[in-house]
Amino acid sequence: MGDTITLLSRREIEKMRQAGQLAAALLDHLAPMVQPGITTLDLNDEAEKWTKAHGAISAPLGYNGFPKSICTSINEVICHGIPHRKRVLQEGDIINVDVTPILDGYHGDCSRTFFVGTPSPVAEKLVKVTEECLQLGIEAVKPGGKIGDIGAAIQKHAEAQGFSVVRDFVGHGISKIFHTAPQIPHYGKAGKGKRLRPGMVFTIEPMINEGTWEAVLLDDGWTAITKDGKLSAQFEHTIAVTENGVEILTLGE
Ligand code: MF3
Ligand code: CO
Ligand code: CO
Repeated sequence: MGDTITLLSRREIEKMRQAGQLAAALLDHLAPMVQPGITTLDLNDEAEKWTKAHGAISAPLGYNGFPKSICTSINEVICHGIPHRKRVLQEGDIINVDVTPILDGYHGDCSRTFFVGTPSPVAEKLVKVTEECLQLGIEAVKPGGKIGDIGAAIQKHAEAQGFSVVRDFVGHGISKIFHTAPQIPHYGKAGKGKRLRPGMVFTIEPMINEGTWEAVLLDDGWTAITKDGKLSAQFEHTIAVTENGVEILTLGE
């Protein structure tokens, strides 16, 4: 990715808001389908159909060769899990569903981790802490602050709860381009990094692990799993830096 951070106009941020709301609505639509017995391909195909029916395009499909329309990342999968007709959701699984519709040229990128049936105590804690990490990262955003403030807030909370922060994948600038500058690490030091300015639009998408933060890439070239096979969870929003603070662009109704 290039180094230049584009500041979006009010008109463009309104476009991002429309795309972001569509992304959130898609997750709301998929949420009740996340039950034991369905496959990750079922989720993918419903997402693809719903996205088209709403006048949008699935950004992941064909992106750098990615073969499906959404990412479905179960248990030890950190991110970029590929939907598959043989992957049936099991009672007790956790699954991150990551969607990115493109509406009128602009990308809305968000994800949530869902429980399949009843989670184990550690899965329940990991998912709760990961969602809190996203919220704390968002709350660290203000004009005049630094990009490092975000990762510092996330890392502090995750590690205080006995979990670790994935290093190999980061948040990203997003607009007409899916992944652009700046990179947003989910770890680091407050006061470090580039200055946050009104009009910057990027994702915050912490991946938090039960055990080690280290990742391994599977032979499919996409699926990233934890090195120790323990659980990983993720939540993602697309946000804009405003004159006063921050706006979440991928909020549901
Ligand atoms: N939505 C993912 C993100 O949060 C990116 C998926 S890229 C794909 O950045 F090619 F794997 F779909
Ligand atoms: Co993203
Ligand atoms: Co995403």
